[in-house]
Amino acid sequence: MGAGLIGIGKCVPSQVVTNADLEKRMDTTDEWIRTRTGIEERRIASDDMDTSDMAFAAAEEAIQNAGLKPEDIGLILVATVTPDRPFPSVATMIQDRLGCVNAAAMDLSAACAGFMYGVVTAKHFVEAGTYKHVLVVGVEKLSKITDWEDRNTAVLFGDGAGAAVISEVSEGRGILSYELGADGRGGNHLYQEQYIVMNGREVFKFAVRQMGESAVSVIEKAGLEKEDVDYLIPHQANIRIMEASRERLGLPVEKMSKSVHKYGNTSAASIPISLYDDLAEGRVKDDDIIVLVGFGGGLTWGALCIKWGK
Ligand code: UT7
Repeated sequence: MGAGLIGIGKCVPSQVVTNADLEKRMDTTDEWIRTRTGIEERRIASDDMDTSDMAFAAAEEAIQNAGLKPEDIGLILVATVTPDRPFPSVATMIQDRLGCVNAAAMDLSAACAGFMYGVVTAKHFVEAGTYKHVLVVGVEKLSKITDWEDRNTAVLFGDGAGAAVISEVSEGRGILSYELGADGRGGNHLYQEQYIVMNGREVFKFAVRQMGESAVSVIEKAGLEKEDVDYLIPHQANIRIMEASRERLGLPVEKMSKSVHKYGNTSAASIPISLYDDLAEGRVKDDDIIVLVGFGGGLTWGALCIKWGK
């Protein structure tokens, strides 16, 4: 039997901050942000909306979308680097609010690759028969660790949450292959002091190389060819990095997920948010072969090859 994503959910704050809004706050331009990153606007959570609030909303929708009840969930994994507090975990906070009375709960830290790490962990618990249904949430309130005086980072990030329920799916469908990796030598390129500190050029080079290699690797591990891939969902950090991975797979523009222009880089939330919009707008359909690939601080990376459907 295989494991796959049987329900998904999303939550983004209602407040839109455009590039024009940022032009008023710092020495930047809409032109620079669009051409260097592809970002046009991002969502920023209000003071009274913390990480757990977004995680809760996305998780509640994912459970409903999966046709399950909160008590059916056996494990909750929340990937985030911006928890409400160091402890208790966001996972335990939403366990209570959701009413997932039978679930174990923990957070995991793998930065922007966190959702990939969560889904792979969930897959193994489901396939081992330990838990029937695992809830995985990727969520960030990056605005609270962003230095709004630093134009190098402040223009890039946004807040949001995406969630998925991982359960048994029918033969041939679900997660076909995966790759996870880390290289701690690059930890000084992207980290949090009080605020996010980033060596953009180094992260850019790493991301272009690693996203392409990981995408190719999961396709091979699944016993497939590049030509078999219907759709690519790269971490939504920068359109130029995303384009490089699309070109590596030889896919046309319309076969790559793109939401970075609307939400900026939402770290662990970016891949499930993009997948959510792709499903809602009919770009991903049952039996499509999709490749999800992310990278982030650590440095970390992760990729999945999935045959979509229950
Ligand atoms: O989820 C993982 C998180 N991180 C990433 O994915 C980041 C990966 N890196 C990137 O996306 C890109 O490196 C950036 C978008 C961060 C920067 O783009 P770049 O093409 O690598 O620009 P750069 O760092 O080489 O900077 C070019 C210039 C610099 O000016 P000088 O030194 O050439 O005079 C910067 O000071 O652009 C300047 N600059 C800005 N100008 C206007 C940097 N940020 C801004 C800004 N507005 N917001």
